[in-house]
Amino acid sequence: MQIEGSVAFVTGANRGLGRAFVQALQSRGATKVYAGVRNPDRLTLSGVVPMRFDLTEPASIAAAAQHCRDVTLLINNAALGKVNVGALDTAFIDLSREMFETNFYGTVRSCQAFAPAIVGNRPSAIMNVLSDATWFARPMVSAYSATKSAAWSYTNALRVELRETDTQVVGLHVGFIDTDMARDIDAVKSSPDFVAHVALDGLARGDEEVLADEQSRLVKRTLSTEDGYYLDPPPLV
Ligand SMILES: NC(=O)c1ccc[n+]([C@@H]2O[C@H](COP(=O)([O-])OP(=O)(O)OC[C@H]3O[C@@H](n4cnc5c(N)ncnc54)[C@H](OP(=O)(O)O)[C@@H]3O)[C@@H](O)[C@H]2O)c1
Repeated sequence: MQIEGSVAFVTGANRGLGRAFVQALQSRGATKVYAGVRNPDRLTLSGVVPMRFDLTEPASIAAAAQHCRDVTLLINNAALGKVNVGALDTAFIDLSREMFETNFYGTVRSCQAFAPAIVGNRPSAIMNVLSDATWFARPMVSAYSATKSAAWSYTNALRVELRETDTQVVGLHVGFIDTDMARDIDAVKSSPDFVAHVALDGLARGDEEVLADEQSRLVKRTLSTEDGYYLDPPPLV
């Protein structure tokens, strides 16, 4: 879809990749950008329309969608990234429930709440921010990975369902990004600005999936090879 002239709603817009998305959209001529955030009073972005939005509060999602009926591009970026001790961690279920509520059910709710307006305003698009961890799971982030795999599956179903309506549904996959979420991880990271622009390039081309870095391309490429990355991912140092 064309970014220039679009009306975008970005979730988790106050920091990290969401903030970079807002700035990239503004630089590419989006007409209006709604910044979906938990605390609009603390927002420091200029030129946006702040909108209260909490993935764990269905009423806030419904209210935002009801208010922002001119949206042509929804970017479901907000998510929670927590580590667990391992796959046998006794806290795994509670932790994954918390992250599923935000990363999976929250994203599903957001898609469902905005879809009627988005489809009505077509040509339009929904981009769901996923991860390279959609396709593999280190034990210490296995709860988070499970939420992203589930969100990938939902994104695929939504794409099929909306294809006939001229609504582009894009899954964005990327390895580590230099944001708060990956602050304590010592690894190669992409800058949030770079990822936002690569994602918008893909959106503008009409792509249905964007692999924003070499890491996500490697993981996907080896899904069907004997030495699949997911079989033995290198540990983080
Ligand atoms: N960083 C990475 O290495 C990496 C890699 C691959 C994919 N991703 C994905 O990229 C996206 C952006 O992550 P990031 O790196 O920018 O993370 P981040 O710096 O931790 O920012 C997360 C954003 O999500 C918001 N958020 C969290 N829980 C929320 C909720 N319940 N309701 C509404 N907003 C909520 C946060 O708002 P508050 O400020 O209010 O907490 C914040 O704006 C996520 O989908 C993440 O999974 C990140």
